[in-house]
Amino acid sequence: MSDGRIAVIGTGYVGLTSGTCLASLGHEVVCGDVDPEKVARMSRGEVPIFEEGLEELMRAGIAAGNLTFVHGAADAVHGAKYIFLCLPTPDGGDGRADLRIVHQVVAEISSLLDPGAILVTKSTVPVGTAKDIRTTLDRDDVFVVSNPEFLQEGTAVRNFMKPDRVVVGSDHRPAAEAVAALYEALDAPAVITSAESSELIKYASNAFLAMKLSFINSIAGLAEVVGADVTEIAGGMGFDDRIGNKFLKAGPGWGGSCFPKDTKALATIALDNGVSFPLLTATVQSNEEAQSRVADRIRAAAGGDLAGVPIGVWGLTFKAGTDDLRDSPALEVVLRLDTENAVITAYDPTVEKNLPAKNGYPDVTVAADVYEAARGAQVIVLLTEWSEFTAIDLAKVAEVAPRATIVDCRNILDPAAVAAAGLKFQQIGRPIS
Ligand code: UGA
Repeated sequence: MSDGRIAVIGTGYVGLTSGTCLASLGHEVVCGDVDPEKVARMSRGEVPIFEEGLEELMRAGIAAGNLTFVHGAADAVHGAKYIFLCLPTPDGGDGRADLRIVHQVVAEISSLLDPGAILVTKSTVPVGTAKDIRTTLDRDDVFVVSNPEFLQEGTAVRNFMKPDRVVVGSDHRPAAEAVAALYEALDAPAVITSAESSELIKYASNAFLAMKLSFINSIAGLAEVVGADVTEIAGGMGFDDRIGNKFLKAGPGWGGSCFPKDTKALATIALDNGVSFPLLTATVQSNEEAQSRVADRIRAAAGGDLAGVPIGVWGLTFKAGTDDLRDSPALEVVLRLDTENAVITAYDPTVEKNLPAKNGYPDVTVAADVYEAARGAQVIVLLTEWSEFTAIDLAKVAEVAPRATIVDCRNILDPAAVAAAGLKFQQIGRPIS
C-alpha cells in the first residue's frame, strides 16, 4: 500500500494498536519490542493487553502476512521507510517526561536506517523533542516527524480507525505529508504543522480534557451543596456546541496513564519556559480535591470514623473497558480509606488477585464478584463505570449488606431501583437525600 515498510518500535497499547491498525490499512508493518517473551506471544496472535477488537485485527494481519513481530529495534528497522517510535516516556519524578529510552533507541538505530527514512514520534514527548532527536540521530538524510496519537484505552482501535484528525508536524513538509498519506484511507482531516506545534497539540488536548473534567467535578461538588444535579447541569451545558457534551461526566476524579502525567508535564514545560499557566496547577489540585471529597462522603456515610469499618468497593481500574490501574482515581480514593484503616473488599472485572502492596497499592482484599465485595459492608462505593454494574441484583446486595449505603461515584445506578431494594443511596453531584 505505502511506498515503504513501517517499523513500529515498542508494543505497548499505542505501538501495538497503531502497528496492527496500520497493517489492517494494507501497509507492511514490523513491530519490534525488547521483551522476547512478549514478541513470541504476539507472533502467536496473543494480545498482551485488554483492548476491544485488537486481537481479531492482529490475527488477521498475521494471517495476511503484513504484520510481524521481532525482538529488538535493529531487526525491525532494517529496510524500513517509516519508523514509528512508540516508547514509554514516563514521569521522570520532577514532572518532566523521561526521554532516556527514546534517545537510547534513536542512538541504537541511527546507523541502521536507510537514506530517506522517516522517524516518527508517536510517544507523547515534550516540545523540542523532534529537534533533540535530530541531534541524537546525527543524520542529514533521515527526517524526523511528530505524529501524536489520540487513542483512548479500551476504544483504541475505534479511535484509530475513525480519528477526529491526524496531526503531523515536521520542519520537512514532504516528510510530514508522506506520514499523513499513510492515513489517507481513514478519510480524516490532516493537520500539518511544525514539529513544535504538533508536540504541543498532544499535551494541550490532554490537559484541556483534564481541565474540563476538573471543572465538571468542581461543579459536582458545588451542586451537592446547593441542591442542584450535575447531570442536569452537564446536559444543559453540553447542548452549547462551543462547550460540547463529551467529557462532562462527573466522577471520582480523572486518571490513567496519560492525563495526570501529561498535565503535570505541560505545567513543567510552561514553568521551564517562564510562562505562567495557573489553570494547569488548578486542574491537578481540583482533581485531588475531587478524590478527597469522595473519601469525605464515604467517611460521613460511615458515621464519621472509618477505622475498622467494612467498605465494599465496585471497580478499581481508572475507567471501564481497560485493565489499567495506573493512576486510577478509584485506587486514589481507596488509598485514602486505607490510610484511615477502613477494611476494604473490592471487586473489579479485570482484577483477579489481591494487589501487590509493594507497588504502593492499598491493602484491599479482592473479591470474586460484586456480592462478595458487598458482604457485610457499611458503605459500598462504586468507582468505575463497568456496564455490568448496572445489572447488579440490588435485592441480593440488600441481603448480604442490609445496612449499607451505596455511594455511586459514576452516577450509573438507578436511584429508584436502589430505593426499592431498601438501601440508602448517594450519587456524585446530586443532593444527599
Ligand atoms: C486519554 C485521551 O482521552 C486520549 O485522547 C489520549 O490519546 C490518551 O489519553 C493518551 O494520551 O494516550 P485515556 O487515558 O485512555 O485517553 O483515558 P480517557 O478515556 O480520556 O479517560 C481519562 C479519565 O477521565 C478516566 O479516569 C475517565 O474515567 C475520566 N472521565 C472521562 C470522566 O471522569 N468523565 C468523562 O466524561 C470522561
